[in-house]
Amino acid sequence: MVEKNSTTGRSTQTVLVLGAGGLLGAEVVRVFLDAGFHVKSATHKELDITKGMDVAVWIEHLHPAYVVNCAALSNVDHCETHPDEAFNVNAQGVKNICLPLDENGGRLIHISTDYVFDGQKNEPYGESDAVHALSQYAKSKLKAEEYIQSILPDSLTVRVQWLYHEEGASFASQLVRGVTTQKNLGPYKLIQNRVGSPTHVQDVAQTLLQLVQKDAKGVIHVASQGACNWVEFGKAIFELNGIAVTSQNIQAVLEENLKRSAPRPPYSSLTSERLQREFSIEMPRWHDSLERAILNLKKE
Ligand SMILES: NC(=O)c1ccc[n+]([C@@H]2O[C@H](COP(=O)([O-])OP(=O)(O)OC[C@H]3O[C@@H](n4cnc5c(N)ncnc54)[C@H](OP(=O)(O)O)[C@@H]3O)[C@@H](O)[C@H]2O)c1
Repeated sequence: MVEKNSTTGRSTQTVLVLGAGGLLGAEVVRVFLDAGFHVKSATHKELDITKGMDVAVWIEHLHPAYVVNCAALSNVDHCETHPDEAFNVNAQGVKNICLPLDENGGRLIHISTDYVFDGQKNEPYGESDAVHALSQYAKSKLKAEEYIQSILPDSLTVRVQWLYHEEGASFASQLVRGVTTQKNLGPYKLIQNRVGSPTHVQDVAQTLLQLVQKDAKGVIHVASQGACNWVEFGKAIFELNGIAVTSQNIQAVLEENLKRSAPRPPYSSLTSERLQREFSIEMPRWHDSLERAILNLKKE
């Protein structure tokens, strides 16, 4: 359980955030710092998780109560054409974190993906649904889940999807920012036949914090409620900004016409069978979080 200072009620423990320069990692650092944790963080430059000896030295030296692993090779098409690199970072890198934690103690909170599913179900995937990874990225992430299950079964693996932050570098982040600041009103080619749940990284990081505080273990899905396709997501951004959508702004395309290297699940909305029932946590609806992100950006 999270240890707290008896006067301030704030945590006194150390959390090490890996991949801290990434979209989610940076937000996890902010949220855990705000909660009073003693946060140590490492960007890719500071610690490469493929270097097992270095990872072990960091963990032995810091003795963190928690390691939140947000590090990953997240470019899905790059992973498809560089499978060895994908497995080295996304699977072996995670094993490199598990082994010293097994020796030294400390809990792992690892981030996984909706892509462990093949997207054929056509309704939201829960934690107990069968996995079937299609791409090299997905296979490497699934391999990491297997390592965790066998080396550190008391860890927490959180599957997330379609992450964005109005200040981030991902495509969804740039779409929100480009339209809201009116610096890029398109045309955006948006995929009509892929459905998921756009999720703001702040909602994920806040939920990770609560799951740590509640000592959650196993696999848990953390995604916004509700689902949409990319065209619907794009239209919502324009509408929330009061801008009428025309073909000059959004062009609907089919996934198969983009001819990308890696296959993606056509339907990968995640739902959680565990968040509400076991931990009384309710994720916001995707549209509400999007509205909040747009308002935040407008305040700046
Ligand atoms: N973004 C999404 O929509 C999405 C969806 C499902 C699951 N996820 C998962 O969520 C997690 C966070 O993703 P994200 O969106 O925050 O990705 P991100 O922005 O690409 O962040 C990943 C970070 O990991 C770093 N990294 C790459 N190789 C590394 C290595 N060998 N050692 C240490 N760090 C390394 C990257 O650094 P460099 O960029 O400098 O290489 C980057 O800062 C990942 O596990 C990802 O698989 C993301």
